[in-house]
Amino acid sequence: MRPCLLLVLTAIGLITYSSCHQSPPTPVKTDSTEIKLVAGFQQGEALFRRYCASCHRSPKRGGHHNEMLVGLFERMPAPSTQYFIRYIQDSRALEQAGDQYAVAVARDYNHTANHHFRDSMTVAEMRSLIVYIRVMGSR
Ligand code: HEC
Repeated sequence: MRPCLLLVLTAIGLITYSSCHQSPPTPVKTDSTEIKLVAGFQQGEALFRRYCASCHRSPKRGGHHNEMLVGLFERMPAPSTQYFIRYIQDSRALEQAGDQYAVAVARDYNHTANHHFRDSMTVAEMRSLIVYIRVMGSR
């Protein structure tokens, strides 16, 4: 057999094989991002219960829940996640620095609370609170 013909036959064989041979379905992989999000949510929930729920009850939308934290990240000055961290680290310091948003919130609620969690939580923990509040506030 001439080498050229052999090549063509091999090529046809390969094409036929690959079109008939069905590859098995790809197994569903658990995305590490999902795992991180769930872990963040759970940590955020525990922190919320510990530090915030006494006043905010739940960030959940509707019903008898206090809705102060619903739509929070759409409302806070951008970048809102960073702003949130600064706010709960020390809301009084923000007000005293004349930050318009913090001054307005304090005025609207008659200045009843002071957030000073700088020493109680790490920034990573505050980020998990963000995950929790975002998820709960969208329900
Ligand atoms: C002692 C009660 C109390 C606790 C504890 C508390 N908050 Fe608040 N929070 C308030 C009140 C009251 C306001 C309204 C603003 C004010 O009075 O200064 C507020 C305002 C806020 C705001 C601003 C709301 C807006 O419309 O922008 C955020 C965000 C917030 N709290 C998050 C938290 C988080 C997160 C925690 C827990 C780490 C927490 N708070 C713990 C009572 C509390």
